[in-house]
Amino acid sequence: DAGKSGYDHYMLKEIHEQPTALRKCLRERVSELEHEITVEELATLECSGSVQFVACGTSYHAALYGARLLRENGISAQCFLASEYDAQRIPITDETLVVGVTQSGETADTMGALRMANQAGATTLVLTNVVGSSAARECDHVMYIRAGPEIGVAATKTFVSQQAALALLSSELSGSEAPALIKHLRGLPDKLQHVLDESTAQAVAEEFVDADAYFFIGRGYNASVALEGALKMKEITYKHAEGFAAGELKHGPLALVTDQTPVFALVTGDTAAKTIGSIKEVEARGAPVIAVTDRPAEVGQYASHVLEVPDAGPYLTPILANVQLQLVSYWVAAQLGRSIDKPRNLAKSVTVD
Ligand code: G6P
Repeated sequence: DAGKSGYDHYMLKEIHEQPTALRKCLRERVSELEHEITVEELATLECSGSVQFVACGTSYHAALYGARLLRENGISAQCFLASEYDAQRIPITDETLVVGVTQSGETADTMGALRMANQAGATTLVLTNVVGSSAARECDHVMYIRAGPEIGVAATKTFVSQQAALALLSSELSGSEAPALIKHLRGLPDKLQHVLDESTAQAVAEEFVDADAYFFIGRGYNASVALEGALKMKEITYKHAEGFAAGELKHGPLALVTDQTPVFALVTGDTAAKTIGSIKEVEARGAPVIAVTDRPAEVGQYASHVLEVPDAGPYLTPILANVQLQLVSYWVAAQLGRSIDKPRNLAKSVTVD
């Protein structure tokens, strides 16, 4: 218990460590005064072709976010579940850069995909938290996310650090050092602290702890956050939870929406207007809507509850939105008395494929 620093669970401690984890990830990589991003580990990395991300679980959701960021910067990037990489017959050439995202650096499915890429002559890079891990040893390049040790099985601070590291990677690969992104990266740890200090997620969790199921919707970057929000809810509460790209609601999942199914809607960035349209669809079916947004005045009128996040620009605000969802899941699980740090049937690192 000494390691929990007074928190009831490692997971809550690690959620609260996120501002520090972010500062460590960004230190000496984002310059304090100038508009510069320098990741020393990537100095010799070259990328002339397309980028393929491979990952599992929460790391896969970070990789989806990363692929979207690279495309934003004009780089052709796709994201694959590591367990499907071989099964889907993904073409790999010696011009492909294959990026593994794995906090442990030991996940068997991710290692399998990276080894396949190595054998096919691709350049491999891993983003990992663990120095000397199998992935760090076997890939051509390694970038550390510097989150510090994570004990809770459900990944929290490593996810945030992966996202920040991916923002740095996208800037390095594209050679674009957008002043706005750099400004927002510098401000991100303080904004995350603000979310932790002001969050009303516990009250939302208390109100909806008895729900039949939880849905999470978002578009673009927020589609990956919706998937992660649902995964976290499943992992630690054992309740039915699903995340969707908001546009897919009407193609099936809407049939599940009732007044007993809270819908968490991620409403930030340039996809906000369309997601508000999706909120109206679920509201019309009586579902309570919890909007996670940086624009409460505009969105509040369509939602029964608002979990507010500061504006950190179009690329980084979704990182803050995810923190609100981590807290909701945590507090639902705490009320249900679940084994939060070691959920049933799950392991921190899955070393069998
Ligand atoms: C396990 C953990 C997940 C994690 C996944 C990938 O399933 O329970 O929390 O996201 O492995 O782990 P990695 O170490 O590759 O990021």
